[in-house]
Amino acid sequence: MIKRKVVITDYIEPDLDWETRTFDSYDIDFAHYQLKNASREELLDAVKDAEIIVVNMARFDEALISGLNKTQLIIRHGIGYDNVDIDAAARKGITVINIPDYCVPEVAEQAVMLIVACQRKLTTQLHSMQCSTEAGKWVFEPVYPVYQLQGKTVGIVGLGRIGGTVFRMLQGFGVKFLVCDPYLSKERKKEYGIETCSLEDLLQNSDIVTIHCPLKWEETYHMFDTLQFKMMKKTAILVNTARGAIVNLETLDQALRAGEIAQAGIDVYEVEPPSADLPLLHNERAICTPHLSWLSEESGWTIREKIMEQIRRYMDGETVQNILTVPNTGPAAG
Ligand SMILES: NC(=O)c1ccc[n+]([C@@H]2O[C@H](COP(=O)([O-])OP(=O)(O)OC[C@H]3O[C@@H](n4cnc5c(N)ncnc54)[C@H](O)[C@@H]3O)[C@@H](O)[C@H]2O)c1
Repeated sequence: MIKRKVVITDYIEPDLDWETRTFDSYDIDFAHYQLKNASREELLDAVKDAEIIVVNMARFDEALISGLNKTQLIIRHGIGYDNVDIDAAARKGITVINIPDYCVPEVAEQAVMLIVACQRKLTTQLHSMQCSTEAGKWVFEPVYPVYQLQGKTVGIVGLGRIGGTVFRMLQGFGVKFLVCDPYLSKERKKEYGIETCSLEDLLQNSDIVTIHCPLKWEETYHMFDTLQFKMMKKTAILVNTARGAIVNLETLDQALRAGEIAQAGIDVYEVEPPSADLPLLHNERAICTPHLSWLSEESGWTIREKIMEQIRRYMDGETVQNILTVPNTGPAAG
């Protein structure tokens, strides 16, 4: 009898020994690859026999999905699913799910860390420390000016799970909030006691802007570009822990160097990892982290267990959770 097959196209775990043992115990054929940047042909060759595909960052576009004749379920390893064409999958009758409820506190913590690190100019302070020990006297000049965080206005773009957690975490800092989220329900506005505003209002009036909306190619790709940086305060900080392509990093670098905005804290890049000669990586006004907002010992295991639970459900004929598509009828809400 032909065994049912699961393929993991690319992964960030140190190894997949636990998955291998678990699939063995279920008598499932399991293969795993590192095909994040592979060609469509190479990717298709690896997944064409799979009933279930788990994808981290590899791109599943319409052309690739149209070649999947055995696949019933695609699981996006993570929250964002901008690398999977869910409309094409729906037309092909393939269900796509994501794992929306993992690493929420971790990403919020990273955003808060970047906000505070930019506001307190952490990297410049480290440089000042080094200059001071070399000079035998405090060298504070490179750090000036530093502004208090308390009383400032934080603009949150996207008040979903992560944006909402950032909102709650930052309340202890005594800041004010502006929120831009065109899809926020009345109930959620009531829950947070806020009204939403336009992106333009938020950019003009925020001291800190933190991005927590999804990358939607038609809607939020390069949502932050030359025009938006010009709208922001010269003292403003921009933090992005959502998806790299929401911000044009070339024009962000130019805006920082021109003094149009003050600081940036960036965890995500349009090309990952970014090339060593990306100007932003060499910009003293930017703190750049390597797309690991999701990282913690807890979240690493949480997502593995949650993915395995969805595979078990599917194999046992139960309904899978967090469905992004309704096969043949287009994407579902959520
Ligand atoms: N850096 C990392 O390691 C990491 C880890 C997990 C998630 N993420 C990213 O964080 C993003 C947010 O995650 P989440 O769990 O909060 O998602 P979520 O779906 O709970 O929230 C997203 C919010 O953005 C809003 N939104 C949609 N379009 C918008 C627009 N044009 N303008 C403003 N708001 C808009 C939605 O209404 C929603 O409230 C994900 O899309 C994912 O790409 C990054």
